[in-house]
Amino acid sequence: MVEQIKTLLKKAPLVRAFLNSRLGRAMMYWPRVLRGRVALRTSDRSPHESFTRFFRNPTQLAALTGPTLDFLDPASLGRPLRIVVLACSNGAEPYTFASTIVNERSDIEFEMIAGDIKEELVEKCQQGIYTREEVYNHETLCDDFVSRTFDSEDGQSYQVRSNIMKHVEFLPLDALDANLVEKTGKADILLLQNVLFNVEPEMAQKMFVNMLSLLNEKAVVFLDGVDLHQRAKLTKRHGLQPLNYQVEKIHEEVRQIRKEGWPQLYWGIEPYWPHRKDALRRYATIYLHETRT
Ligand SMILES: C[S@@+](CC[C@H](N)C(=O)[O-])C[C@H]1O[C@@H](n2cnc3c(N)ncnc32)[C@H](O)[C@@H]1O
Repeated sequence: MVEQIKTLLKKAPLVRAFLNSRLGRAMMYWPRVLRGRVALRTSDRSPHESFTRFFRNPTQLAALTGPTLDFLDPASLGRPLRIVVLACSNGAEPYTFASTIVNERSDIEFEMIAGDIKEELVEKCQQGIYTREEVYNHETLCDDFVSRTFDSEDGQSYQVRSNIMKHVEFLPLDALDANLVEKTGKADILLLQNVLFNVEPEMAQKMFVNMLSLLNEKAVVFLDGVDLHQRAKLTKRHGLQPLNYQVEKIHEEVRQIRKEGWPQLYWGIEPYWPHRKDALRRYATIYLHETRT
């Protein structure tokens, strides 16, 4: 009944205009944001969650091959670019990033160290063999990416191509390990994605601070899958600057799978709300780090 009344009201032109106005949208947005904050405080996190995808966020990948590499200027380094991926699950994310650089920026020399706390996942990554279901687990995956990334004779088993595998080394890695840098070395690009929101906020903060110790003087951090207010607070406190590139589009790609959970579940994510003072820092997923000398 309530739903029917709501639908009828939405059809009335004046009501529809009001709901689409800034005030109308704010009246719907803020109470749900508050409800979302309650969910973050009260719901149990899932530290063992290892859901991942190949080619999860195409616009974030465009930011990788465009402004990220422009900022780092790999040609000026005099050594291969170093990429570190923490919490890499079954390897879909590091192989996606490696494939994108190999295929779109073949001028760039790079090496990647990737790891996860679960040793069985690290072994899977090292093999680089995936089932059709593991590769095709979402609609936006494009065939072009698949053919550039895998060899498959039967369309059932997909082996990551050797020209991509040779760039990536997989190790068991604990993002909380105080000696992490001794295992990974320093990073020009660091990925810490979709793990912080799965652990309690205090532990997420520890992981974030530990990750900072891996960064070279000039570095770029990919940081999706973290409570938005915590991301805004921590990146500001530690002097990371949000990359102002397609922030809304990337946010909407992230929301494709996470909007279902908002505001009632911790992994849900709110719609982009540009009127917030901290909108850029809150919704960005890529941050620039530069130590001033
Ligand atoms: C949801 S997956 C994210 C995979 C990938 N980063 C992505 O965005 O698609 C989260 C991963 O974090 C790993 N993880 C949890 N705690 C960790 C820790 N302390 N150190 C390293 N990995 C951890 C889990 O084993 C899981 O594979």
